[in-house]
This record gives sequence, structure tokens and C-alpha cells, in this order.
Amino acid sequence: MRRTLVTGCSGFIGFHLCRRLLADGFGVAGIDNLSDYYDPALKRQRQAILQADPAFSVVNDSIETPGLLERMFRDHRPEIVVHLAAQAGVRHSIDHPRAYLSSNIAGTFELLEAARAVPPRHMLLASTSSVYGPNDRMPWRETDPTDHPMSFYAATKKATEAMAHAYAHLYGLPVTMFRFFTVYGPWGRPDMALFRFTRAILRGEPIDVYNRGEMRRDFTHVDDLVAAIRALIDAPPPPEGEERDEGVSPVAPWRVVNIGNSHPVMLGELIAAVEQATGRYAIRNLLPMQPGDVPATWADTSALRRLTGLSPSTEIRKGVQDFVDWYLRYHHQNTAGMACRGKSTSDASPSENRKEQDLLADPPDINRKTFHRNPI
Ligand SMILES: NC(=O)c1ccc[n+]([C@@H]2O[C@H](COP(=O)([O-])OP(=O)(O)OC[C@H]3O[C@@H](n4cnc5c(N)ncnc54)[C@H](O)[C@@H]3O)[C@@H](O)[C@H]2O)c1
Repeated sequence: MRRTLVTGCSGFIGFHLCRRLLADGFGVAGIDNLSDYYDPALKRQRQAILQADPAFSVVNDSIETPGLLERMFRDHRPEIVVHLAAQAGVRHSIDHPRAYLSSNIAGTFELLEAARAVPPRHMLLASTSSVYGPNDRMPWRETDPTDHPMSFYAATKKATEAMAHAYAHLYGLPVTMFRFFTVYGPWGRPDMALFRFTRAILRGEPIDVYNRGEMRRDFTHVDDLVAAIRALIDAPPPPEGEERDEGVSPVAPWRVVNIGNSHPVMLGELIAAVEQATGRYAIRNLLPMQPGDVPATWADTSALRRLTGLSPSTEIRKGVQDFVDWYLRYHHQNTAGMACRGKSTSDASPSENRKEQDLLADPPDINRKTFHRNPI
């Protein structure tokens, strides 16, 4: 059994990745502090599903706790480390920069120190498309400049890339940095546009549409993303001295790879897809651009294709339908569960939590052919 350590295992992407690794027969040691950036009940539910597999174990604590990750590395001796734990979100970083300093900078430092003490065969760390900042030469390639971050979130991720590069160079640690482009899908993050739009549209509430909808995002379905991560696990960067392709450092076993759909979508198209999937019209509240945001993102994915043969390609309407189906099941199950049990799902016992797996069953029958103007 291949031993892996996944930070941020109970987060959106971590959950999907852990499920995939467990299905592929990996042993997974996870760590997640279940931060309250968004409802921790959703994280506990994801975690309960993972805990049903005996090959999964988890520590619920913060990665920046000095010595904690080093102890985990010594206990588990992971061959593969996937680092997803972070304070995410561009807008939140404007009002809460310290959370980013702590999780993203101090947390990544502790991870690198642990890897120095107990070196894994390959470390893969999450960065973001936000590091490309104001670059308007599209699509973005890994070799494009990333020297002008426009939010503190982007700045901490850029720092993460640089810190990991130094450790790769100094200690010969093979490192892959991912730059993710707006990931979406079932079990997604409540702070992200698709979740907020779906919730508001189903309630008949207005949605905030920034830059009056004049924004393009390279929306990437989480299944495509996880397939790409899984393939990249087996494609570590070449050691120093061997031939280096684009995106690989000239002085370290360190590579950066975009993971995006390479097909940017206007915000209006996303909203239309949610309207179609829910069978309800959106009420649009048109607003100016938010500080820290960029008008467009677009991944050049030729490096990913060259390394793995994969090109994420889920079409937005299909992906949004997939999300809305999950959202309806989730909402239905939690509402029914709370009414029956008279308590929140976060208080549920492990056996009750196993019922959450039912959320992956078929969605309730909704009539998507007819559009309704009234809230449910
Ligand atoms: N979702 C996206 O569109 C997207 C885009 C670009 C980059 N990323 C990056 O991908 C990674 C995963 O993102 P996600 O969307 O799954 O976010 P998420 O918030 O759902 O997952 C992150 C998880 O890390 C945990 N965490 C946060 N700080 C921690 C700490 N100090 N110690 C231990 N656990 C901690 C959180 O509780 C959460 O469960 C992050 O590094 C994020 O910056 C995500």
C-alpha cells in the first residue's frame, strides 16, 4: 500500500482527492483543523465519509503547530505528500490577512521542515491561478511572470512556491506546484460563486454579480482536477542534471503545472447554467469589480497534457448540473435529518454520519423543463 499524507483532507479538494486515493488502494493520513472559514459541519460530513475506510486516518489540528507535522511524518513515513491545507479565498484575505500568514506561510514552513527531516519521494503543493495577477496575455503559461500579486492570498501562494523551491534546491526534495483554476463540483465551497448563486436562486434571493458580469473564469470540474493530481503524483520533476522541460526549475527538482479547463466562461454563462439546472431565474444585483479580483483567468494546459496525457474538459452546463444535483440532495438530506434528529449534523454519531453517504445516491425528481419565478 502506498503511503500518502494529505493536508486539508476535509476540505473540498482534499475530500475528493482522498476518496480517489483510497479507491486506488493508497493508505491516507490526513490532517485538517476544520477551520470555521465556512461551515465546519460540511467538513465533518466529508471527513465522516472518508473515515468509513480503514485505510484513512486523520488528525484534527493545525499544520502550523510546531513539531506536529514532523511527528506525523515520522509516524507515517509518507512516500507522497499532497499539501492542500490553506486559508483560501481572495476577498477574505483583505480583512483577515493574519489567517493567511499563519496557515499558508507558517503552515507550509512546518510542512517543508517535516519533509526535510523525513523526505518523501514526491511532494505536491497547491498554488493558484491568482499568482498570475494582472497579466493580460492569455492563456497563462507556467513560465509567465508572477511578480505582481493583487491580493494577500495570491502573495502567500507565491511565497509558498518560492519556499518550496528553496527546499527542493537545498535538500533535493522533488516538488510539484499546482496552479489551480476556479475549481467547482459536488461538496464544493459555500464561499464560492457557484454555491452562492445556487443557494440564492433556489431561495429567490438576488445574486451579487461583480464587474456587472464582465468576468471570465476558467472553471475546472473537481473530477478533472483530481484525475490530473492523481496522474501528476507519478510524474515527479526530473532530478538535477537531467533534461528539463518548461516549468521545471533550472536549479532544483521543482516544477509548476497549471490545472485548468483552458476554456474560460463568462459569469453570465455560469448563471444561465444554474438557471437551467435549477429551473429558476436569477435576480441579478450588478456591482462593480471587487478589490483584489482580476477580470479573467485562462490556463494554458499544454504542460499538463504533455506530462499526463490529460486535458480537463468538463463542459460548464454538465458540471453545473452535477453540482446542483448534489446541492439538492445535500439540502434535502440535511433538512430532513435535522428535523428527524432534532440536532445539527455536526453532532451526529459516526453511524448517523454514514447516512451522509446516501447523499451520493440519486437526486430527488425535480422538473427542470419548467422555469419558476417564485422562490421555493
Ligand atoms: N477551490 C479552488 O477553486 C482553488 C483554486 C486555487 C487554489 N486552491 C487551493 O487549493 C487548496 C484546497 O482548496 P479548497 O478549495 O479545497 O479549500 P477548502 O477551504 O475547502 O480546503 C482547505 C482545508 O484546509 C483546512 N485548513 C485550513 N487551514 C488549516 C491549517 N492551518 N491547518 C490545518 N488545516 C487547515 C480547512 O479546514 C479546509 O478543510 C488550497 O490550498 C487552496 O488555496 C483552490
